[in-house]
Amino acid sequence: MNGRFPATRPRRLRRSEALRRLVAQTSVQPGRLVLPLFVKEGIAEPQPVASMPGVVQHTRDSLRKAAVDAVQQGVGGLILFGIPAVKDARGSAADEPAGIIQLALRDLTAEVGDDTVLIADLCLCEYTDHGHCGVLADRDVDNDATLDRYAAIACAQAAAGAHVVAPSGMMDGQVGAIRSALDQAGYPGVAICAYSTKYASAFYGPFRDAAEGAPRFGDRAGYQQDARRTTEALREAELDLDEGADIVMIKPALAYLDIIRRVADAVPVPVAAYQVSGEFAMVEAAAARGWLDRDRAIMETLTAISRAGADIIVTYWAAEVARRLS
Ligand code: PBG
Repeated sequence: MNGRFPATRPRRLRRSEALRRLVAQTSVQPGRLVLPLFVKEGIAEPQPVASMPGVVQHTRDSLRKAAVDAVQQGVGGLILFGIPAVKDARGSAADEPAGIIQLALRDLTAEVGDDTVLIADLCLCEYTDHGHCGVLADRDVDNDATLDRYAAIACAQAAAGAHVVAPSGMMDGQVGAIRSALDQAGYPGVAICAYSTKYASAFYGPFRDAAEGAPRFGDRAGYQQDARRTTEALREAELDLDEGADIVMIKPALAYLDIIRRVADAVPVPVAAYQVSGEFAMVEAAAARGWLDRDRAIMETLTAISRAGADIIVTYWAAEVARRLS
């Protein structure tokens, strides 16, 4: 104190936007945002997703246009989810060369493949008739039989042009199985973004409408992580790195900022965070009622995720935010 007045005044650096911008220690960059896109087989028009305003299930045609638009806005990557017309117990459509995800990857490779990163979500829940992320033995997901399926899917996605595959099923050993399958099939350059730490979360609710992959019975608590656990995230990331992961992902983002920080401090590879459907829906729903300022809330959540240590952020707002930032 200097007499009655403080000698130190942190407010000095908050006096103008120019100052605040100069001293900002966190930034959200368009080139590090990834936009999720859904493509559905056998539809003639894009289908809106009721719980995700502005998000649609694309036709192949509308997907191409959405991808071009997102790339023009400056987003860094696209992550693709396919919804097949026919589902079965083993999720056959996931690795058929003419399966919807493979067709879409080929379309996008031709359209934007040189200008952006094409990431293929690699899971079975959109493709199985029971909605679980793997094949079943009795009523439980059979880990090791599922690894064979993931290996085949990875190769099909790589053949269709995926630059990165992103296994999201939380099976033990999935990264290693996929890495060796890709290498043997002649795709050593295809990277793996491992959903290393995927919590069993209520925030995936709207996604299950978008991707039509809700489990028909039971839940995913037997393979996704429990929200009460912490060090397991470090263990999963470490295992995935040993198995050959190039990027590790944490999901959801906002309710797991502490986990993003811990993983980011521990690993020497880029860290991605997935701002999931429920995080999106929560802000959109409140904003629609006039309960919060939508644009500010969006930027604040992305800033928080970046501040927690995420290098890459997957967000349904990627194209919009990229446009706003540029
Ligand atoms: C599939 C998968 C899910 C999400 C991404 N990949 C759903 C789930 O595990 O139930 C969720 C994404 C989101 O909610 O936006 N394994």
